[in-house]
Amino acid sequence: MFKPKPVTRQLSALAMVAVLGAISLPAAWAADGKALYADKGCAACHGEDAKTPLQEGYPKIAGQFADYVFSQLKDIKSGARANGQVPDTMKPIVEDLAEDDMTALADYLASLREPPTAAATGPATPGKTLFLTKTCVACHGKEGKKPLPGYPAIAGQDKGYILAQTRDIKSGARANGKANAMQPVMHLVTDDEIAAIAEYLSTVK
Ligand code: HEC
Ligand code: HEC
Repeated sequence: MFKPKPVTRQLSALAMVAVLGAISLPAAWAADGKALYADKGCAACHGEDAKTPLQEGYPKIAGQFADYVFSQLKDIKSGARANGQVPDTMKPIVEDLAEDDMTALADYLASLREPPTAAATGPATPGKTLFLTKTCVACHGKEGKKPLPGYPAIAGQDKGYILAQTRDIKSGARANGKANAMQPVMHLVTDDEIAAIAEYLSTVK
């Protein structure tokens, strides 16, 4: 049966809404980044949800850590990162981005992080074993989901993109940002092993 709520309860609920509204500054940032993401055409290549890239070899960027995204946008603009498809795709887009725009975009993309799912319990695949034994796990975290601060998450990333970036960091074609942390251990993996790891990581949910 319908029973009107006591007035005091309604008031306190309203007060809560007002308080939440007043402290939702990060949401305001996220909104800004969201608008930029649409206005600057990012969606055309990375997908409207930032995780359905236009084509194979393009990265998913939804939920990536903000510090890492910011550093990559800066490095692409400055030319410090110019490997792979950067010159033909990203470079012209970031040319007119101010640092504030990059911060807002990075915060927006990080805000799209989904709650972690339970670790998969399936049988070990060659790629999964290599991920654990070739030190990747030490820096990129369990299943590539919990990297050290400033390092990228690589779980569920596009397979071709993982392959290309790992090879480029190994060869030195990509040496921007903190890539010099990863480069010295890349003698541990052959191209075939990198392919197996990329296969595994791309399937992690
Ligand atoms: C024309 C297609 C295209 C557009 C538009 C585009 N990107 Fe990209 N983006 C790419 C490709 C391709 C790469 C990977 C480049 C490579 O091969 O290294 C990339 C890489 C990135 C990376 C680095 C990802 C990582 O894991 O290191 C970030 C971050 C990024 N883009 C964000 C953006 C944002 C933000 C916008 C809009 C301001 C944008 N991109 C617009 C194609 C595009
Ligand atoms: C000592 C730490 C370390 C180890 C070990 C390491 N990485 Fe990395 N990795 C990094 C860092 C740091 C970056 C980001 C570099 C930058 O700042 O641009 C990175 C970047 C990457 C990227 C590019 C991500 C992107 O979004 O563009 C891939 C893919 C990757 N690592 C795969 C691997 C694989 C596979 C292994 C094991 C064979 C591995 N890493 C081992 C530190 C490490």
